[in-house]
Amino acid sequence: MIRSQIVGCGAYLPKRIITNDEMTRIVDTTDEWIVARTGIRQRHIAADGEFTSDLAIEAAERTLASAGVEANEIDLIVLATATPDNTFPATAVKVQARLGITRGAAFDVQAVCSGFVYALAVADNFIRCGQVGTALVIGAETFSRILDWKDRSTCVLFGDGAGAVLLRAVETDVPNGARCVLSTHLHSDGRQHDLLFVDGGPSSTQTVGQLRMSGRDVFRHAVGLLSGAVDEALAANGLSADDIDWLVPHQANKRIIDAMARKLKVSTDKMICTIDRHANTSAASIPLALAEAAGDGRIRPGQLVVIEGMGGGFTWASAAIRW
Ligand code: ACO
Repeated sequence: MIRSQIVGCGAYLPKRIITNDEMTRIVDTTDEWIVARTGIRQRHIAADGEFTSDLAIEAAERTLASAGVEANEIDLIVLATATPDNTFPATAVKVQARLGITRGAAFDVQAVCSGFVYALAVADNFIRCGQVGTALVIGAETFSRILDWKDRSTCVLFGDGAGAVLLRAVETDVPNGARCVLSTHLHSDGRQHDLLFVDGGPSSTQTVGQLRMSGRDVFRHAVGLLSGAVDEALAANGLSADDIDWLVPHQANKRIIDAMARKLKVSTDKMICTIDRHANTSAASIPLALAEAAGDGRIRPGQLVVIEGMGGGFTWASAAIRW
């Protein structure tokens, strides 16, 4: 059977850092409040004129370099974003052009903070059914552009960034033993739309709009949905929480990550946590964390990595990966 192996990963963060102390000059907040409620200490913010596609292309080039693969070998680009450069064409197509690729397919996936897992699932399924051999999966966001910088309850939470993984088709007859994406699990429930959404769009207001969130309600749903998705990924592969080497959660809030670790009975030593430095970068947060932990040698070949995310919609999703 054909499966997808992760053969490279990479990430990019804009140079400009805004610390919590700087946030106190923008809204009525304190470093203590932000750290205690979220674990966030700073966030990276894209420069004027620096777009989601610019962050994505940097992450893509680093990913290709880490894999030792040429851009012209890519058959498919799936880019997860809720902050595309333009309403259309897809940001993925801009990345494709800047990589010098003129064949294959490139498109965006929109599932907000679950977007990277959704994009991974799409690419994995293209590979499993034999339609493509090499797929680039990117999560890239400039959430700073859709924040209401007067709303202290949301603007302190988010940052900009991009991360990516490169998938290659491998032939294997040991589905749960081989180094590959073992399974992906996607969910959505549109009834929760009003708890987390952007109040604009081309069809509704003809404006970009700004992020609106009922943070306490999102928090209330998050731990159960996310831990359920992790349990689902483990059960699908005949594994238990003890088998997890690394849990790489979407980085929304340190308290959500810690509560999930307690519920799943996974040691916090096994959680990859970047929220303190990156804040919530939506679809970019998981590949940013993967690139950091694979790059510094924490995630090693053969280890079991479980990723999970939840975002507006609601959407929520998980994947089990034998790295
Ligand atoms: N600084 C200081 N005080 C603040 C700030 C701030 N930045 N923001 C809110 N407060 C105040 C509120 O006004 C409120 O004051 P009041 O009691 O006088 O009314 C008080 O702090 C408590 O506010 P809550 O909203 O109840 O605070 P809570 O403990 O719930 O923390 C938070 C808020 C951090 C947003 C939390 O609810 C959370 O993280 N929720 C989950 C959000 C999340 O994960 N979002 C991402 C989902 S993924 C996606 O798709 C984008």
